Amino acid sequence: MAAAPGRVNVIGEHTDYNDGFVLPMAIELYTVIAAAPAADGRQTIQLRSTAAHGAAAIDLDQPLKPAPKGAWFNYPLGVIAGFLARGAKPGGADALIHSTVPLGGGLSSSAALEVATATLLEVMTGLKLDPVDKALLCQKAEHEYAGMPCGIMDQFISVMGRQDHLLLLDCRSRKPELVPMRDPAVALLITNTNVKHELTGGQYAQRRAQCEQAARLLGVTSLRDATADLLARARGKLDPVVYRRARHVISEIERTLQAAQAVRASNWTTLGQLMYASHASLRDDYQVSCAELDAVVEIAQGIGPKGGVIGCRMTGGGFGGCAVALVRAEAVADLSAKVAADYEKRTRIKPSLFVSRPAAGATVLQG
Ligand code: GLA
Repeated sequence: MAAAPGRVNVIGEHTDYNDGFVLPMAIELYTVIAAAPAADGRQTIQLRSTAAHGAAAIDLDQPLKPAPKGAWFNYPLGVIAGFLARGAKPGGADALIHSTVPLGGGLSSSAALEVATATLLEVMTGLKLDPVDKALLCQKAEHEYAGMPCGIMDQFISVMGRQDHLLLLDCRSRKPELVPMRDPAVALLITNTNVKHELTGGQYAQRRAQCEQAARLLGVTSLRDATADLLARARGKLDPVVYRRARHVISEIERTLQAAQAVRASNWTTLGQLMYASHASLRDDYQVSCAELDAVVEIAQGIGPKGGVIGCRMTGGGFGGCAVALVRAEAVADLSAKVAADYEKRTRIKPSLFVSRPAAGATVLQG
């Protein structure tokens, strides 16, 4: 039995595939997989999920290939394929998946499913992967089996999360640094807009392509190597939309480093301001927010420091999903009620709110 967490990204959005920095944390919501050897010695893995009807049967003696786009079991299937490619063959098994990470909520339910599967397969095959290799295997599963050209943030944090720590990840060197965040005076309040986000739909891939185009025109390997000055000087060469995409990425990488410094210094006001600035940049320059995410941030900003809100931004890929707010811990109950009521009044959608401490990464619950 293995478990892997979802995540919220505190700051550093759409920077991972630009070789930049991200600052996510694992949350106290998990995907759990339980498996037992197949009783009849068959060489198939039967997968069931409490969130889907029917079972998927994966024949381990046949070459694996992706199921049609949108099939929920493409994630575990891709991870199994990754183990087989490394010569590690699990035996036949019956497996059941259950998750408390909301699906399509921008909290990386897909990475949690991939990493939980990989953690289970490490036990089933005896192949213990290095954490970086494990995260990369899961990312590859998402690229090749789910058709989503994601960066490395979600799989890394689901593997490497540590209780009471954020993970500052340099996505170029893949060097992780755990940054302690355990001040009991502040909390992270997560609001799910309950607008489903859908990242396989092309917008994400388009943003990636625009970033690559910007890097090419600026003459750098990736936007990590660009500066605000370089971008300003090259403005005439860039299409205005591509220019704005690059402006977001370059400024967001800078904000992420400043945010890590603010967390190290328990400078919550600065962190909060960086979160608001990140949201504005994602909304105006990167254009991956939506009316409902903007509504949560506006409500939070309206409540302000007097009401216990220090900062707020959308989190994850965007186009729906969740916002994360840095708040005073003592104000959580009042704030949750107020944000929920105001959000519902503005959008006619009931949100879901919860608080999470930075949680631990994937674990084997029972070997
Ligand atoms: C999704 C991707 C990540 C990252 C974020 C945006 O969650 O899976 O790799 O690019 O979007 O920051």
